[in-house]
Amino acid sequence: MSSTKRVCVIGAGPSGLAAAKNCLASGLEVVVYEKNDQVGGNWVFNASTGHSSVYENTHIISSKAWSEYEDYPMPTEYPEYPSHRQLQAYFEGYAHRFGVMDVIRFGHTVEHVAPLPGNAWEVRVSAPDGTTSTQRFDALMVCNGHHWDPKYPSYEGTYTGRFLHSHDFKGVDESWRGKRVLVIGGGNSACDVAVESARLARTVCLSMRSPQWFFPKFLFGQPTDVFAAKSAWVPAKIRQMTFRVMLHLLQGPYSRYGLPENPRPPLTQHPTLNSDLLDYIRHGRVKPRKGIARWDGLDVTFSDGTREAFDIICACTGFWTTFPFFDESFISFKRLEKIPLYRKMLHPAHPTLYFIGLFQPLGCIWPLADYQARIACLELLGAYRRPAKLEAAIAEEIAHPHYAFDGGQRHAVEVDYGKFRAELARELRSAGVEIGAPPAGRAGHYKAAPRKSA
Ligand SMILES: Cc1cc2nc3c(=O)[nH]c(=O)nc-3n(C[C@H](O)[C@H](O)[C@H](O)COP(=O)(O)OP(=O)(O)OC[C@H]3O[C@@H](n4cnc5c(N)ncnc54)[C@H](O)[C@@H]3O)c2cc1C
Ligand SMILES: NC(=O)c1ccc[n+]([C@@H]2O[C@H](COP(=O)([O-])OP(=O)(O)OC[C@H]3O[C@@H](n4cnc5c(N)ncnc54)[C@H](OP(=O)(O)O)[C@@H]3O)[C@@H](O)[C@H]2O)c1
Repeated sequence: MSSTKRVCVIGAGPSGLAAAKNCLASGLEVVVYEKNDQVGGNWVFNASTGHSSVYENTHIISSKAWSEYEDYPMPTEYPEYPSHRQLQAYFEGYAHRFGVMDVIRFGHTVEHVAPLPGNAWEVRVSAPDGTTSTQRFDALMVCNGHHWDPKYPSYEGTYTGRFLHSHDFKGVDESWRGKRVLVIGGGNSACDVAVESARLARTVCLSMRSPQWFFPKFLFGQPTDVFAAKSAWVPAKIRQMTFRVMLHLLQGPYSRYGLPENPRPPLTQHPTLNSDLLDYIRHGRVKPRKGIARWDGLDVTFSDGTREAFDIICACTGFWTTFPFFDESFISFKRLEKIPLYRKMLHPAHPTLYFIGLFQPLGCIWPLADYQARIACLELLGAYRRPAKLEAAIAEEIAHPHYAFDGGQRHAVEVDYGKFRAELARELRSAGVEIGAPPAGRAGHYKAAPRKSA
């Protein structure tokens, strides 16, 4: 019998592809189950599985420079913020380049996963022909994504108009023309949906229950994350103050837009990057509104007591982090405000369970999912040792976030890209793998805090 470890990867999105690439490079036996018929996860527009949350005009908000896997550049002809179609093609190229296509079982959905004695895993999978089978694996890499399970808001009363979540927003068609639209939220989905729908709708209002900082996609002619990375070495408070002043100089007070001023410093919330929203507000095409107090029929009452009727409401209120293949009594992070994993990937009770890509950076996810996957493979090969007191290390990580991120489930896995990269690089270094400075064009100086709970 072969002594090679068998790894099951759930999902062939950007994180699952990085996981499989690293397993192959490490000589591990790997099977990737992907319920869709192509790779790319969230970036497969209109996937029949209903997984994707992108819409017709989605372009990434992390720039090309910061959204390349470090070993696989994006084509030179791609713009600084590529479209979802370009992203999907990029992921497909990556999967071919690293031989990952050969190990993906498309159309296979992981229905149930349970631990077996000896830290192995029993994985039940349904095939495209409807048959199910059960397989045993030595390790599990969970890469099912965390931006697909819509989080719906609820208010007193009953709304009777057309109601959808941003997950189901695929663009505006003729049915939006002339309609009164209300968009709920202040994140990237809300701003994109508000601007998109303003192209056809009669009126678009944007209801925000809490203030937000709005970053343009370019600062001084550079993609915002490229510009921001240059100051990554600056102490957090000074950096935040600088961003506050800079945004104020560029945009003026938010009261001029009818938006609430933000008492919290920039970078304490997941950043909203949108160069159109503030313009649209000043052109009268998007109108800010307060949070919602209740709804009745087509009428919405806002927290300031004003009332207006809307034909369409789109809730851009975020996503739950869920794992439908785990029994809830086994693992459920759904309602947690902080997810208890070391480096957002290692579970204290299950040494062969890895969550890959389960973090939300001020930056891009998949280059660092690649780092996480590398750590997982090194551990499976016996070259990496997790901290002995893992629970203490997790508690410390939770107690010392990279910025004083807002509470709530929205920021349960928020990290700073540069600091998180440095932390993952340090884990790799402990296994003898040296990670250099970020690739050219990503100039930033990052220092990780020392690993205390070794
Ligand atoms: C509109 C939008 C724009 C975004 N823009 C950016 C951006 O600019 N930069 C950035 O870094 N992030 C962005 N994100 C975040 C997004 O989560 C990441 O871009 C990326 O998709 C994460 O990759 P992933 O592989 O972890 O998850 P996903 O892309 O969600 O892939 C998960 C895969 O797992 C498969 N799967 C799930 N469950 C099962 C199962 N039970 N069995 C088999 N297969 C399964 C799915 O079919 C899918 O292919 C954006 C998100 C949204 C919604
Ligand atoms: N173009 C792009 O690349 C793009 C586009 C869309 C999304 N994304 C990414 O996708 C991820 C998800 O973004 P998202 O905008 O969908 O979700 P999000 O970042 O979680 O934002 C949700 C917004 O809805 C608000 N909200 C939540 N529950 C609410 C409720 N019950 N009532 C009223 N408001 C409520 C939140 O306010 P509070 O802060 O008060 O909770 C927040 O403003 C992020 O990583 C984002 O960067 C990227």
